[in-house]
Amino acid sequence: MTSYSGDKLRILAAIAEVFRPYTPIDDIDLFAGRVNEVAEVLGTVYERGRHVVIHGDRGVGKTSLANVMERLLVRRADGQEEARVLVVKAACDSTDNFASVWRRVFNGIALTRDIRRTGFRAEPAEEQLDLAELLPEILRPADIVSAARTLGRTVVILDEFDRLQGSETARAFADTLKALSDADADMTVVIVGVGRSVTELIGEHESVERCLKQVRIPRMSNAEAEAIIATGLERAGMAINDDAKERIIRLSQGFPHYTHLLAKNAAEKALSSDRTEIEMADVEGAIAVALEQAAESVKETYRRAVTPQRRQSLFDNVLLACALAAEAGGGTFGSTDVREALERITGQRMELTRFSYNLGKLCSVERGPVLDRLDYPGRPRYRFRNPLLQPYIVLQGHSRGVI
Ligand SMILES: Nc1ncnc2c1ncn2[C@@H]1O[C@H](COP(=O)(O)OP(=O)(O)OP(=O)(O)O)[C@@H](O)[C@H]1O
Ligand SMILES: [Mg+2]
Repeated sequence: MTSYSGDKLRILAAIAEVFRPYTPIDDIDLFAGRVNEVAEVLGTVYERGRHVVIHGDRGVGKTSLANVMERLLVRRADGQEEARVLVVKAACDSTDNFASVWRRVFNGIALTRDIRRTGFRAEPAEEQLDLAELLPEILRPADIVSAARTLGRTVVILDEFDRLQGSETARAFADTLKALSDADADMTVVIVGVGRSVTELIGEHESVERCLKQVRIPRMSNAEAEAIIATGLERAGMAINDDAKERIIRLSQGFPHYTHLLAKNAAEKALSSDRTEIEMADVEGAIAVALEQAAESVKETYRRAVTPQRRQSLFDNVLLACALAAEAGGGTFGSTDVREALERITGQRMELTRFSYNLGKLCSVERGPVLDRLDYPGRPRYRFRNPLLQPYIVLQGHSRGVI
């Protein structure tokens, strides 16, 4: 017979396993939604001569999608056989350049060559060669094509591509994609990174456009966020009532990081009250913990935007009004939207002159900048430089009791 507290500990362990706000998904069964995006990537990967660029806002789930693609592609038809596709995944960083990324890709790919030993009896032997060691000192796109030729069907996934510095590096990658396609090499490159468009990631190169498929990963839909909650709770043997579920979905604003963070903490709250069904009070209680546990970079950006804050100063409320306006406006907003939100928050009439100073400062280095000012013809519009901040600001608003 299992003890009551033993059951509780097992549920706690399951919660920690299924809700992981900081770790990309690598288990297909925990991967929610994204069916169209997966279909688009898979469709292109099997089309020889085409490459894929997966882009989207920070934290929307790009790496998780890349992980799942990797799993799907290396799946073997039967356990004994070689994988049909060689999939290599590498993450780029800001110290990388064209050559260092490719060396990492080819590192550890062993080529086996038959050599005949001469001697008393010639017998076949195999020599293992590391492909990275066979590359020339200075790497050019043509060398990548030659290396690709030595391999069979290969998919190279390059994550965190936005971290690479310099337009020359981007250009070299663009040239490589084109060269691979032109040479009909059996290698597909999947580039993954933060960016609103392909151009933001690899620059503008008309000649490669034709051999590129862009797949934008949007924020999650409500149904996708709901799937994260449902799958996780089912595995943990817990449930949630509709109000509480709606609240988590709403607060997450399409960012799976917050869905995991809130669901995890709400589940733990319920369990600490000896319940296996999550209620609204658990979600309310989870907000404070979620704020504590949010990504350090997000917390730091928030602090910098609102402090120093003199008494009567409006930075926290203006920032909150911006987050609400951004949510309502699908990302961008104007000062009138901020005013309306600010009036709702403070319950007072607000003239633009009362907060235009704050809005200006939030676009300056001194306070981030947290906002980008987009100079559209006519009135300026604004948008959050890091959209992951929006849900955090709204959670702060909840915890301060102003919404
Ligand atoms: N389809 C999904 N189903 C369930 N959880 C997901 C899904 N996609 C992402 N997540 C979760 O959301 C969080 C962020 O995901 P991930 O790291 O993949 O995003 P990202 O876009 O690569 O972020 P970054 O821009 O920082 O590289 C992680 O906790 C991850 O587990
Ligand atoms: Mg990532």
